[in-house]
Amino acid sequence: MLDYRKIALVTGALGGIGTAICRQLIQHQYKIIAVLTPSDENREEKWLQTEAIHPQDIRFLAVDINDHQAVIEGIEHALDTEGRIDLLVNNAGITQDSAFKKMSYAQWCAVLDTNLRSLYSITHPVFLRMLAQNDGRIINITSVNGLRGQFGQTNYSAAKAGMIGFTKALALEGARNRVCVNAIAPGYTATPMVNAMKVEVLDGIKQQIPLNRLALPEEIAAAVVFLASDHSGYITGETLSINGGLHMH
Ligand code: CAA
Repeated sequence: MLDYRKIALVTGALGGIGTAICRQLIQHQYKIIAVLTPSDENREEKWLQTEAIHPQDIRFLAVDINDHQAVIEGIEHALDTEGRIDLLVNNAGITQDSAFKKMSYAQWCAVLDTNLRSLYSITHPVFLRMLAQNDGRIINITSVNGLRGQFGQTNYSAAKAGMIGFTKALALEGARNRVCVNAIAPGYTATPMVNAMKVEVLDGIKQQIPLNRLALPEEIAAAVVFLASDHSGYITGETLSINGGLHMH
């Protein structure tokens, strides 16, 4: 039995996969620092009620993850208050799908900034603490489309592939201090992000999935719990695919 409570920082905490991750980590005795976008700030109370999450199990940090200075200050403050950090889940992400020939520079930058560039601001202060603790886990939520590419997602596929490179390089740098860094590559998962796709496009993709259904957010969260647990202490630099057989590599 630990004499302290484990602390996990989860970005995109109020999203489809983020919510499932928070719920399962709380069931496994973690306290969550939940990073959410400032525009979601007034959703906190309703979210707690809907998900039946006790306020004592969570600390909210509303910050634009593209605002480097604000992220550093917000995370430093949260970590000083909690006293330690055991797990970081880089889960926040957006899509702005468009065929590349029609894609604007703004669409390109928005996705690269939010899904990849922000990893520096979020991960750097956490990684320094984990090195000092000689212990920690980092899990980056990438995508099947970072592994295989997807028509209409040059920005998203580039960012998610970048996340996999980041995972491998950081795993090498963390290993001496027992900081394990892994990625999870979900396939198409039943979340508001996927449900926002055109029905006919999504139907076409569903037909390509050998297991013939979308993933459940809980199935992604279960892998986060595993990669955070003592059972996975010898896994680092790995990308775990959970895609119903859509892509095998
Ligand atoms: N492969 C090849 N060609 C394709 C294609 C595909 N998958 N999809 C469309 N095209 C072709 C069409 O046949 C059409 O060809 P013609 O011009 O010769 O008729 C042309 O491309 C249409 O291009 P448009 O840009 O006009 O198409 P559009 O504006 O209607 O739609 C799109 C483009 C929005 C990118 C649409 O294709 C789309 O939504 N694609 C799916 C993107 C996707 O999978 N997003 C995942 C979101 S969820 C997520 O990202 C989570 C996760 O990690 C999995």
